[in-house]
Amino acid sequence: MTERVSAPWWRDAVFYEVYLRSFADSDGDGVGDLPGIRSRLRYLADLGVDALWITPFYPSPLTDAGYDVADYRDVDPTYGGLAAFDALLADAHRLGLRVTVDIVPNHTSYRHPWFVDALSAAPGSRERARYLFRDGHGPGGDEPPNNWASVFGGPAWTRVPAADGRPGQWYLHLFTPEQPDLNWRNPEVGDEFESILRFWLDRGVDGFRIDVAHGLIKDAMLPDNPGVRHPGPDHDGTETVHAWDQPEVHEVFRRWRQVLDSYPGDRMAVGEAWVMNAERLAAYVRPDELQQAFNFLFLGAPWAAADMRQVIDASLAATALVGATTTWVLSNHDVVRHVTRYGDGAAGQRRARAALLLMLALPGSAYLYQGEELGLPQVEVAPAARQDPVWERTGHTEIGRDGCRVPVPWSGDAPPYGFSTTAQTWLPAPAGWADCTVAAESARGDSMLALYRAALRLRREWVGAGGGALRWMDRTGPSDLLDFERGGGATRVRCVVNLGAVAVSLPVGDVLLASGPLAGDRLPPDTAAWIRPVDPNRTA
Ligand code: NOJ
Repeated sequence: MTERVSAPWWRDAVFYEVYLRSFADSDGDGVGDLPGIRSRLRYLADLGVDALWITPFYPSPLTDAGYDVADYRDVDPTYGGLAAFDALLADAHRLGLRVTVDIVPNHTSYRHPWFVDALSAAPGSRERARYLFRDGHGPGGDEPPNNWASVFGGPAWTRVPAADGRPGQWYLHLFTPEQPDLNWRNPEVGDEFESILRFWLDRGVDGFRIDVAHGLIKDAMLPDNPGVRHPGPDHDGTETVHAWDQPEVHEVFRRWRQVLDSYPGDRMAVGEAWVMNAERLAAYVRPDELQQAFNFLFLGAPWAAADMRQVIDASLAATALVGATTTWVLSNHDVVRHVTRYGDGAAGQRRARAALLLMLALPGSAYLYQGEELGLPQVEVAPAARQDPVWERTGHTEIGRDGCRVPVPWSGDAPPYGFSTTAQTWLPAPAGWADCTVAAESARGDSMLALYRAALRLRREWVGAGGGALRWMDRTGPSDLLDFERGGGATRVRCVVNLGAVAVSLPVGDVLLASGPLAGDRLPPDTAAWIRPVDPNRTA
């Protein structure tokens, strides 16, 4: 008898990013927590996602909303502690949901014991060798070691006092000064992170989302960059060649893959790698490296058929070269929500609905961000309430990312819409969201939430039947269409998306789902439909 080998679960899974601080607050302190997530697991299972990615819950001084970790092997009491994590994991698994957690290896918090020790240790010591301490340039070492800038604004170097109280060495921080970069060329750092991965794998997590995966290794000489900008949500990385995407970073992930593979159950990791193009990204998902990397090219593509198609083709081709699956992302906690990116208001909503059917029809895995299933737009958070360090560090020139991070509205007519029992939430919930709470949208058949539920349910059926590769169905006529098929026989599905300004005729077949009202047999602008092509052998 031949054994049937099934594909690993993550290859075509739909992940849901839970931005912990804003998902659900169980104890009324205005901050989301793990028991809050636990109480909403049924909602997530019913939505139809396969796995969660939970943003950092570690003890942290919160300089960067938890992406500044002081202890990698604990859960902050604010979020419920380790016991709450274990309980959440057990319940999620019982409901068939996988759980992946955020791991932040590029930098620690300045409150991490390693950095505290490094500050009181001498230049050249073992303690300092865990980070990137260097002497400054110029007379008295007053100039930073190179011209690198922090992603969040300002220089990427901060000077610390020497033992005698006079100005001493500088240390590198690609983000805030409270997030010192680790020295990944030091084997002690690799060993420590292997142990951290094992800590969470032993507890039963299904995988990791790797923060700043492309940044761990810097050019060993730390040379000046030709430009001083850095990649991030708004940048393409072309100007900074020495801080990011260095060849040796792949050795780190080869080791991590071995660790993951040494556990049963297809444990996985997805890398956050802001790199220049699909080929560079594919290098992170070679067979002996990470299972997945976020495809930010798709997220960055404008609402235009030619751009979308180019990104889809390039993404599929690059991952096919290495035998990996492609991932598709429209929003996350670092970027402007896609309803707003696509034009806001009614147009933004229409396009976001169509984009969902596009994304979920593509081969591979999709990552959803909490609140997109409600069609939430970007919020303008009042200056005094802003939390993102970007706002201060850029001298109030960049507004920061708070607008996509406000609490999820669950029910009721006024802030905080069932997120918490206090109105004093860590970021304020906006007025005017009574119609886009989970409760309100659950009651409306034409809501964004209803569309997400229907689309995820249908997608499970054809993914369960094998999915299949994408075949473009080119036709003459407007080039504002994306039109492709997947699968065969009873699970054949055609996805047509109209990104143009005029309605187009729909292919013959049964409409399984449409993102908006159809105009008879025509597909209106900014609308997508999933069609089951008519079987020529069908008699009735
Ligand atoms: C990427 C995370 O998604 C972002 O929120 C964070 O600020 C940076 N990495 C630094 O850790």
